[in-house]
Amino acid sequence: MVETSGKKILFDPFISYNDLAKGINIYSIKPDFILLSHGHSDHIADCIAIAENSQARVVCNWEIHEWLNHRGIKHTHPMNTGGKWDFGEFSVKCTAAQHSSGMPDGSYGGNPMGFIVTSNEGNFYYSGDTALMTDMTLIPKWAKLNFAVLPIGDNFTMDASDAAECAGMINCIKVIGVHYDTFGYIKIDHEKAKKTFADKGAELLLMNIGETITI
Ligand code: NI
Repeated sequence: MVETSGKKILFDPFISYNDLAKGINIYSIKPDFILLSHGHSDHIADCIAIAENSQARVVCNWEIHEWLNHRGIKHTHPMNTGGKWDFGEFSVKCTAAQHSSGMPDGSYGGNPMGFIVTSNEGNFYYSGDTALMTDMTLIPKWAKLNFAVLPIGDNFTMDASDAAECAGMINCIKVIGVHYDTFGYIKIDHEKAKKTFADKGAELLLMNIGETITI
């Protein structure tokens, strides 16, 4: 979750089914917005429960918006790749992501996306699950970034080396790593990943579960 300009924006909630996050009570999380990058269960598992409890507005692609609407979550805002919307305190632009997006029940989940969030307090890029791709070189045309949130776990997404390459493409030296250690397929060597970034003049931040930092 990122708090900016007085709003709490929760991304891809996967908590109660995540062995690493067992100690967190999802009902203690009260976001104003939930942004969903794609339909995979390790990104939306707790979305309905948190959205019902908090009444947060859920921002996602059209197909996930319909899927949620059919399950009783009506306070959604549908978007799609390339689109931008001003939510008042911040704006969201949806970027392409090179991944897939099937829903947990097997239904079609549309295309995966990333998000550029801009506000008076600063700008950041949340890539979602994605491979490294040259489309990322477009991102500096849309925002000067204060930080980025990038997957580094390999196997399903970029590894730390590709994410460090992405940091160069998006012109951002401060990166919060995500999508690692949760499952056997994506366990990583933390120090090696940090060194990969440092060698390219960038900084990789690996946060502890439940930790808060100020950027
Ligand atoms: Ni995924």
